[in-house]
Amino acid sequence: MSDQDRQILAAMLEWTLAVGADAPVADVATNWLADGQGPPGREFDLAGAASDTRRVMPAGAERSDVRGHAPPTRTAPPVAAPLRKFATASPDAAIGAARAAARTAANLDALRTALETFEGCSLKATAKSLCFYRGAPQAPLMIIGEAPGRDEDIEGKPFVGRAGQLLDRMLAAAGWSEADIHITNAVYWRPPGNRTPTPQETEVCRPFLERQIELVAPRVLLLLGGSAAKQILRTDEGILKVRGKWQSLEFGQLKVPVLASLHPAYLLRAPIAKRQAWLDFLSVRDALKPSVPATAGGA
Ligand code: URA
Repeated sequence: MSDQDRQILAAMLEWTLAVGADAPVADVATNWLADGQGPPGREFDLAGAASDTRRVMPAGAERSDVRGHAPPTRTAPPVAAPLRKFATASPDAAIGAARAAARTAANLDALRTALETFEGCSLKATAKSLCFYRGAPQAPLMIIGEAPGRDEDIEGKPFVGRAGQLLDRMLAAAGWSEADIHITNAVYWRPPGNRTPTPQETEVCRPFLERQIELVAPRVLLLLGGSAAKQILRTDEGILKVRGKWQSLEFGQLKVPVLASLHPAYLLRAPIAKRQAWLDFLSVRDALKPSVPATAGGA
């Protein structure tokens, strides 16, 4: 590679960082705008692109640059790139497909497979990994956050970044380890740039989440943050209003007490709020205490 090619590549990388890219999601770059101005929503097949150099070239690199230099010649790397698609179905059809896929999952492995093959959530097109859950497959306490972030996308597990580490410290202080809990998110793929998931994205993931709750069968659900609380409790109220108030929700045959609390990422920014979150954790711990039979230690 010539010095000039190196400089061009460095400038392109700098530009990519400046427009907000913060993590690589694949070995082959996807030029979403190449090949015919197709709007997002069109099927985009990276596997097919392996033989199509236009799709793996940077936008505009097919042409000579402004100084008239010929573009560097590149051939598509011989990797089996995963199929990346934006969801093409209407929101209602995607939710219908999610319900059908989730309903038939008899266990968490089947639910994971259903998520892996589901193409109705456009977050999947830009994320690296499916982040399904961490912790125990069945647990008395199930925790639901907002969405995977950068670290979660890299590892393929929920709550493994800074917020997750704070969550783990809080859980340990309350006497729980990973073996006692099941941790997941309201959506299973990282939203680009860590933005809040849209209502459509959370709704399309919801049938999978509801089935997951049924399969985990927790005794208590703890929702972390305003986005998870709004979506799961179907409320427009802010987290500061709903936190700390017990509610009850039904998922199939399962009726579960639900508590919303503050998100650990918020606690990292506003440590003064940790006291409120801790009160919520104590409330959850009380709710999980084995109930003492009326005759225990009786007269
Ligand atoms: N924030 C979340 O809501 N979930 C994660 O998995 C990580 C950060």
